[in-house]
Amino acid sequence: MKDIIVITENKEYPICFENEFDGLRNAVEQAGLRGRKLCIISDTNVAPLYAKKVADVLEESFSEINICTFEAGEKSKNIDTIADFYDFFMDKKLDRKSVIAGLGGGVCGDMAGFGAATYMRGVTFIQIPTSLLAQVDSSVGGKVGIDYKNGKNVVGAFYQPDFVYININTLKTLPVREFNAGMAEVIKYGPIASSEFYEFIKNNKAQIKALDEATMATVIGECCKIKADVVSKDEKEGGLREILNFGHTIGHAIESVKEFTLLHGECVAIGMVAVLQICVSRGYLTEEFLAEYIDLLKYFDLPVYVQEISAEAVYRQMFFDKKVKNNKISFVFIKKMGETIRTDEVTEKEIISAINYVVKTEM
Ligand SMILES: NC(=O)c1ccc[n+]([C@@H]2O[C@H](COP(=O)([O-])OP(=O)(O)OC[C@H]3O[C@@H](n4cnc5c(N)ncnc54)[C@H](O)[C@@H]3O)[C@@H](O)[C@H]2O)c1
Ligand SMILES: [Zn+2]
Repeated sequence: MKDIIVITENKEYPICFENEFDGLRNAVEQAGLRGRKLCIISDTNVAPLYAKKVADVLEESFSEINICTFEAGEKSKNIDTIADFYDFFMDKKLDRKSVIAGLGGGVCGDMAGFGAATYMRGVTFIQIPTSLLAQVDSSVGGKVGIDYKNGKNVVGAFYQPDFVYININTLKTLPVREFNAGMAEVIKYGPIASSEFYEFIKNNKAQIKALDEATMATVIGECCKIKADVVSKDEKEGGLREILNFGHTIGHAIESVKEFTLLHGECVAIGMVAVLQICVSRGYLTEEFLAEYIDLLKYFDLPVYVQEISAEAVYRQMFFDKKVKNNKISFVFIKKMGETIRTDEVTEKEIISAINYVVKTEM
């Protein structure tokens, strides 16, 4: 598949799609990074699977390669792990010309990118995402960062990589629950940007579930195209980029109230259903469409409602979101498939009824 070019204010870089790691050599060459030192950052699940393979492929391309591993999981996404990275970088004498690669899921990419953005005021960064969520979402767009205290992603930067290299075959080792959580973000791109893409997902859902290579290449490529296009138009989230948060306003609140026992994508699935309920009650979309959308989420074993929490708690939690401005919560609604409305003109009654729609004991 052809590379996709992400264009931002200060930088243009490719997203490469392959089904192996060998093409990394060419990507490094094209980016003009040959001969430098490389530090691969990866987590304890991904490093044993792929770090040595990547290091072997790139042996001739770099003067030295080191692998820095951290404990897998969101709970590692903090300042202490970043301090461990800095110790490692200094120990290995990484300099301003060195290259840092994030090889892993979104946690790894966000942290490796934050390390790269801040070490020596910024060194070269490359993304090698291995989870579906990272391949279709977090590795594109340049947002990097860490969690601080109870706040998710509260410390961070916009820092674009020199390239993103996606080896689609890494998805074969991704746990199914993680794959499905990534599918929530994939499905999200339909309503926010493209009815054709939504139809494609619907018509090819069995091939997607079976990880058919050609189908997955199309799916991931289309998602990256949509995200790259949005980011190119609005790198720093002044407006348009907000559409990527469809389903996230209520989703994030559920994620916090459930104390992160559900995966992010699972909460996004529930959050999308809640928002679509408002769209139905406003007359933008039909009940039939919502039922079909719920079926598609369920096909990928995604939850569409949540139990054992109160709607009240979710509502209160929503006001802690970074995106709340002047105590008004901003929403992304779907006007029709592929067309969005961004607004903070939403009544409390609408929000409560949307939350009640997904917070229940049975459905
Ligand atoms: N920067 C952004 O724009 C952006 C966007 C969305 C999400 N995020 C961030 O992304 C993170 C979530 O990303 P995630 O869902 O990838 O989580 P993750 O990085 O924790 O990966 C999920 C799990 O899958 C494992 N894994 C990853 N690839 C694998 C593979 N190929 N084979 C086997 N196991 C594999 C990981 O070790 C981990 O256990 C969150 O911290 C979120 O804030 C960032
Ligand atoms: Zn998300």
